Amino acid sequence: MFATRIQRFLYRRIAKPVFFSRDPEEVHDAMTALGTALGSSRGVRSILRSLFSYASPSLRQTILGIEFPNPVGLSAGFDKDALLMDVLPSVGFGFEEIGSVTGERCAGNPKPRLWRLPNSKGLVVWYGLKNDGSETVSARLRGRTFEIPIGTSVARTNDATTVETEAGIRDYEKAFRAFADIGDYATVNISCPNTCGGEPFATPERLDALLSRLDAIATRKPTFLKLPADISTDELDALVAVCDRHRVHGLILSNLTKRRDRATIDPTEIAVTDKGGVSGKPVFGPSNELISHLWKTTGRRYVIVGTGGIFSAEDAYEKIVRGASLVQLITGMIFEGPQLIGEINRGIVRLLVRDGFATVAEAVGTKNSRKDPAAG
Ligand SMILES: Cc1cc2nc3c(=O)[nH]c(=O)nc-3n(C[C@H](O)[C@H](O)[C@H](O)COP(=O)(O)O)c2cc1C
Repeated sequence: MFATRIQRFLYRRIAKPVFFSRDPEEVHDAMTALGTALGSSRGVRSILRSLFSYASPSLRQTILGIEFPNPVGLSAGFDKDALLMDVLPSVGFGFEEIGSVTGERCAGNPKPRLWRLPNSKGLVVWYGLKNDGSETVSARLRGRTFEIPIGTSVARTNDATTVETEAGIRDYEKAFRAFADIGDYATVNISCPNTCGGEPFATPERLDALLSRLDAIATRKPTFLKLPADISTDELDALVAVCDRHRVHGLILSNLTKRRDRATIDPTEIAVTDKGGVSGKPVFGPSNELISHLWKTTGRRYVIVGTGGIFSAEDAYEKIVRGASLVQLITGMIFEGPQLIGEINRGIVRLLVRDGFATVAEAVGTKNSRKDPAAG
């Protein structure tokens, strides 16, 4: 589309050089403020919609009773405090995941805590779960209706008081309970690489303890679990075996990578800091491998959400044909511009037609030849 090409050109030549010359967190905060302001005007929203959004019946899916207008969502970590729900549908997103929100308000790690890796097409993220806390964010959302499905991602407050297992579980419980009747699905993020005490709930025993307690909290929402990028397929199998015993409906693959030796990471760039986890292209391969393995071993038993390194329709489609019903992104939008969401959706439709599929749902998992047990 001509209009999209112009938007891409303007972003690459004008907006991106300005953004990339400034501190990344400052730009993130400015974009959040701008998005909040733009979203508050009905007129602006409809202009944005006509510029950016792309709709097609072949992109629609009903998953766990939730209607997704398209499979492309905003991943957790961009809209930490739930301020962008109004503007995101106009930009073309099919859903968003707010948070991660923690039991208590959290200032996050000391600045600087976000760096760009232009050659590696990634970001180093060391925010440390900065957010307004479960009471404030849930109060902001309570009683509201949303145009697109909303996922509420919860995590453990990043401080020394939640490192011990029981205290950590209580913190998750507080956040999970605060959002039990808000939004469309709940995500339990056990894979933030940037917190005090690491990722204790990414081990089967502690995950079992955590999920047992969350199972006891009444909610109509399905629960998704967000997993780390740097796990082996055996470790994934072990975590899935735990999920099988609990109220888990979907798995999000994956969070940031902590491995700095990934082939796609330029070693000179990453030397900027020894902290944090990396987003973007360096996560693409590892998350795809995990998606394929999960699909081959569980088929449609879990809804798979593919996240990591999506910069194009081809990238999103790769995750879909490997087994993801939904995809999410952040870094691709920062590098390519807001028109990317519509471009991806339009491109997915083109790829579906090329491969003879009528809908996204038909394409899910088709690259991995495993016969779907649900199909008999
Ligand atoms: C700035 C930033 C903040 C993030 N914060 C969170 C977070 O709070 N919770 C979470 O589950 N994932 C968080 N992530 C990870 C993303 O949700 C996503 O899994 C990862 O970045 C891979 O997707 P991408 O390559 O499209 O960015 C964050 C990522 C970025 C770039």
